Amino acid sequence: MAKSATARAGANIALVKYWGKRDSRLNLPAAGSLSITLAGLETVTTVAASPDLKADELILDGSSQDAGPISKVLDLLAGPQRRRCRVDSSNNFPTGSGLASSASGYAALVFAAAQVFDCNPDRRWLSIIARQGSGSAARSLFGGFCEMRAGQRSDGSDCYAEALFEAEHWPLEVVVAVTDRARKDVSSRDGMNRTMATSPYYQAWVDTVAGDLDLARTAIARRDFEALAAVAESSALKMHASALAASPGLLYWKPATIACLHAVRELRSAGIPVFFTIDAGPQVKAICLPEASARVTEALSAIPGVVELLQTPLGAGARLV
Ligand code: PMV
Repeated sequence: MAKSATARAGANIALVKYWGKRDSRLNLPAAGSLSITLAGLETVTTVAASPDLKADELILDGSSQDAGPISKVLDLLAGPQRRRCRVDSSNNFPTGSGLASSASGYAALVFAAAQVFDCNPDRRWLSIIARQGSGSAARSLFGGFCEMRAGQRSDGSDCYAEALFEAEHWPLEVVVAVTDRARKDVSSRDGMNRTMATSPYYQAWVDTVAGDLDLARTAIARRDFEALAAVAESSALKMHASALAASPGLLYWKPATIACLHAVRELRSAGIPVFFTIDAGPQVKAICLPEASARVTEALSAIPGVVELLQTPLGAGARLV
């Protein structure tokens, strides 16, 4: 008999970035990271296990895709003898363009599959499984503010995500300026591998992350917006600096990306509480206090090349529906 479950998970955006691994096979990050989970950018995934299926099937946003990567994660969760699954997943935001669809996707997948296979539903353990699909996915199991621990053990058992604060602790808002809807040319995985292998700035980048995590944790605990703005912008720019210096250099930004960065800086100089971050893609995420979101949206929508704006508060962790 088929057994199924549906889960939803929000995308997350790192304020202290993850970029580079200490172990590629187990997908262990070289350093920790810290993120916020978004309520409005979500993946909803149904996992249906059936004795009638010969192989896993993946339907993503209505079209059939290679199920290889998700099969690996399902094997880690329930063992290779498990029943095969049909996984139907949809995002309410553009896929593969620097909006962390793999994060919400793998988090929703492991959460639904844990229910289907009656596995341990402990989020820390699920984060260890999700991490092996996509490093940032571990963080989407949790809501609000989340920290990913790099750990030190070679088996990765101390490399997991954990909750720092729920969304209610500090109700920030995020305005995403989409500057290009196309799938990015170089995935995060390939981009970080290239940076590790060729960038003269890679080690310098890794060396700064622990200090940035301390600053960000303290800023969040104190709700100190200026301090969080400083460390988050610095982390994003350092990550991109290391990637720009790779060979060939990774240039994820479009002209409108840079125009958005200047606009956010100008707003903050004028006293509007907003800062930016950018992942491995051309979109700019502007993080602000709720009272500033209308001003931020207005300013970013006036920039030529901004094709869409998404606005969202922080949200909860992965959950069943
Ligand atoms: O785990 P991945 O492959 O989605 O890599 C995430 C990399 C960044 O989004 C650029 C940074 C981060 O910490 O989310």
